[in-house]
Amino acid sequence: MDIKIGLLGCGTVGGGVVELIRMRADKIAAMTGLHPVITDVLVRDPDKKRNVTFEHELLTTNANDIIQNDEIKVVIETIGGIEPAKTMILAALRAGKHVITANKDLIALHGPEIMEVAEQEKLDFLYEAAVGGAIPLIRPLKESLTANEISDLKGIINGTTNYILTKMTESGANYEEVLREAQELGYAESNPSSDVDGLDAARKLTILASIAFGTKVSLDDVKVDGIRSITAADVAYAHELGAVIKLLAVGKDDGHALYLQVRPTMVPKAHPLAHVNDAFNALFVHGDAAGDLMFFGRGAGSLPTASAMVGDVIETLRNMSMAIPSRFRTGPVTTKAVKKGSPEPLRYYLRMHAKDRPGVFAHIATIFSNAEISMETVLQKRAHDNQAEIVIVTHETPSGSIESAILQLNDLNDLLEIKNVIPMEKGDA
Ligand SMILES: NC(=O)c1ccc[n+]([C@@H]2O[C@H](COP(=O)([O-])OP(=O)(O)OC[C@H]3O[C@@H](n4cnc5c(N)ncnc54)[C@H](OP(=O)(O)O)[C@@H]3O)[C@@H](O)[C@H]2O)c1
Repeated sequence: MDIKIGLLGCGTVGGGVVELIRMRADKIAAMTGLHPVITDVLVRDPDKKRNVTFEHELLTTNANDIIQNDEIKVVIETIGGIEPAKTMILAALRAGKHVITANKDLIALHGPEIMEVAEQEKLDFLYEAAVGGAIPLIRPLKESLTANEISDLKGIINGTTNYILTKMTESGANYEEVLREAQELGYAESNPSSDVDGLDAARKLTILASIAFGTKVSLDDVKVDGIRSITAADVAYAHELGAVIKLLAVGKDDGHALYLQVRPTMVPKAHPLAHVNDAFNALFVHGDAAGDLMFFGRGAGSLPTASAMVGDVIETLRNMSMAIPSRFRTGPVTTKAVKKGSPEPLRYYLRMHAKDRPGVFAHIATIFSNAEISMETVLQKRAHDNQAEIVIVTHETPSGSIESAILQLNDLNDLLEIKNVIPMEKGDA
């Protein structure tokens, strides 16, 4: 039996979904007993040249051709952003259609509201593609690992920043230069803020943390630092210290509170995350029963993202063929306190410019000593104009101590500028 599917949006991801459903329709029919057919496709501009050619599908600019079409049982949303995607998804659910989306922005901000409607209507609302592209993350956290108390999430979940940091590491070029190249190649948007300021990773962390820790998490709970402050000098020092710089999304549940951060981090080269390059994504998960797990793969792209979305289509068709309405609670189950900062002591890299005169380093050392911070490595180089560049790597230090030392360093007359402070990962996962 044919199952009619409506597609909202047909750009990079939507085009991949059309292609993959066409390629696998017979296999899906053999697996589920239902044969998926995309019948209607909503776009803004029907005359636009696309990577996919349309055969029997109707291209439309009117969402109601899909939402009010009673023959369509499944809607796939690949428009992106909050509106009109949110209104269309809610209308589709209220019209009795299962919905599949890749829209991380919408889920991070309005996921609970939409999931509640899906639960009331007893419909599937699936979003595996919203985090990590092709990598299965949502379903393992929601199903396979639910016997665990999950304490840690740590990963690289934004491909654009990982591409920029990888190129800076490989070429030694500055952030601005690599960003410009990434924009020319289409890897970064003309307004790159959502990626480079860490917001995209924060939204994805919100989605992962709410599922993994079984609690309500909002975007404001995440402490976010992006990669704009990372310079070629920091990348070169990272290399000298045996590390690479990565933008990590980190979630921890220490049993009392959640700690959620997106931050540039120096990752030792021996650490598996140091080898996740270009647009690849990876996520570490620690569960009390499962131990450490690592998920790795393509975090974006037309077919990789379609792979996750069509997986959701198959799940929905299976549920439909067995008359199973949305199988599991999707909403948060508890409320947990959220704290800023890092729950565990970390090593920190500090790069500073100071006046090149006797006694300056002694002052810095006194401030570190007063804050009970011990130094692991010190590098001092003459910069220019009687300035010295001082790089200090601390031993493991509580985040409060490093914040207190930074406040005191800022008051030191001979210290001209703290150029960067970057936490460092331990050597293994
Ligand atoms: N790109 C990736 O690798 C990737 C990976 C994971 C998740 N995602 C998510 O997937 C979603 C889609 O991303 P994408 O890269 O495929 O975006 P995209 O290439 O910009 O495609 C968006 C599509 O939506 C249509 N559209 C936009 N506004 C519309 C409106 N008001 N009414 C009707 N149609 C509208 C566009 O129509 P026209 O074609 O006529 O302009 C286009 O076909 C987003 O939520 C994104 O976050 C993307």
